[in-house]
Amino acid sequence: MSFRLLSIYQTRDLLAARDAGLAEIDISLDLGLSETRVHINPEGALLPGGALLPWPEIERIQAHAQALFRVTDEGGVEKVQAFSEAFGRLYSLMPTAGAPTMLISGIPMHRIKSTDPLQDTRSKIRAASPKGRVLDTCTGLGYTAIEAARRADEVVTIELDPAVIAICRQNPWSQALFEAPNITQLIGDSFDLIAAFEDASFDRIIHDPPMFNLAGQLYSADFYRELHRVLKRGGRVFHYIGDLRSKSGRNVARSAARRLQEAGFRAVKRRPEAFGLLAFK
Ligand SMILES: C[S@@+](CC[C@H](N)C(=O)[O-])C[C@H]1O[C@@H](n2cnc3c(N)ncnc32)[C@H](O)[C@@H]1O
Repeated sequence: MSFRLLSIYQTRDLLAARDAGLAEIDISLDLGLSETRVHINPEGALLPGGALLPWPEIERIQAHAQALFRVTDEGGVEKVQAFSEAFGRLYSLMPTAGAPTMLISGIPMHRIKSTDPLQDTRSKIRAASPKGRVLDTCTGLGYTAIEAARRADEVVTIELDPAVIAICRQNPWSQALFEAPNITQLIGDSFDLIAAFEDASFDRIIHDPPMFNLAGQLYSADFYRELHRVLKRGGRVFHYIGDLRSKSGRNVARSAARRLQEAGFRAVKRRPEAFGLLAFK
């Protein structure tokens, strides 16, 4: 699949090249995964395929640090975003120097302060240590599912909102979600869909839900009992919570740990470096 995506990370270089009088420059149109040669002329930047991106459009992108833009066939640009009628949420991709994050009604889906979405994902994966069959309860941009699938035999990942998956299709860093043969995607509410899985059918669970106040059911005793039921003996759940050193993170972690133990997990350990808890069956 070929992408034509631009954010300030590319327009900064295009504008610098124009100001330096260069005739061409290599930039990435797929958010850093590969580089493409772009020709520069007084009207704008000539992209592969022949679309001319005029300088006013490039300057418009440069003025939006938190937005990612797609170049249209007509040489215009539009934000990569989707409004979910079903859930009343606006999703958009937010650029970083590498893999983008998604803003859900303005809130980033991954940690980006002093880190980036990929490092955030890797710390969750280190804590979860995926192997065998893995359940990923909240797909999002698919980063945890994709990283888990590199280490495990099979990953089943569940996303509530189809609009999120529509954004994943436009994100070069999410493509393995659609291409990896060992990832199965399900659309629906994890709270409901988990009932269909057999007892002791997963070796690992990655539970990376929205914040407690947005998705209380996914922190409930009923849901934790289901996590325990579908997990094999000797298995573990990584449960993302948020910064365990913050007051709210500490409180959510304390009550989640209590409910996890009541649900049958034999031990629950804090993993502050991964912003979560690890529950052992
Ligand atoms: C923090 S993000 C997950 C990030 C993901 N692990 C990644 O690597 O990109 C939470 C995601 O869970 C989805 N979600 C919210 N409630 C859900 C539910 N009940 N069942 C399944 N997914 C849910 C949200 O739409 C959002 O995409």
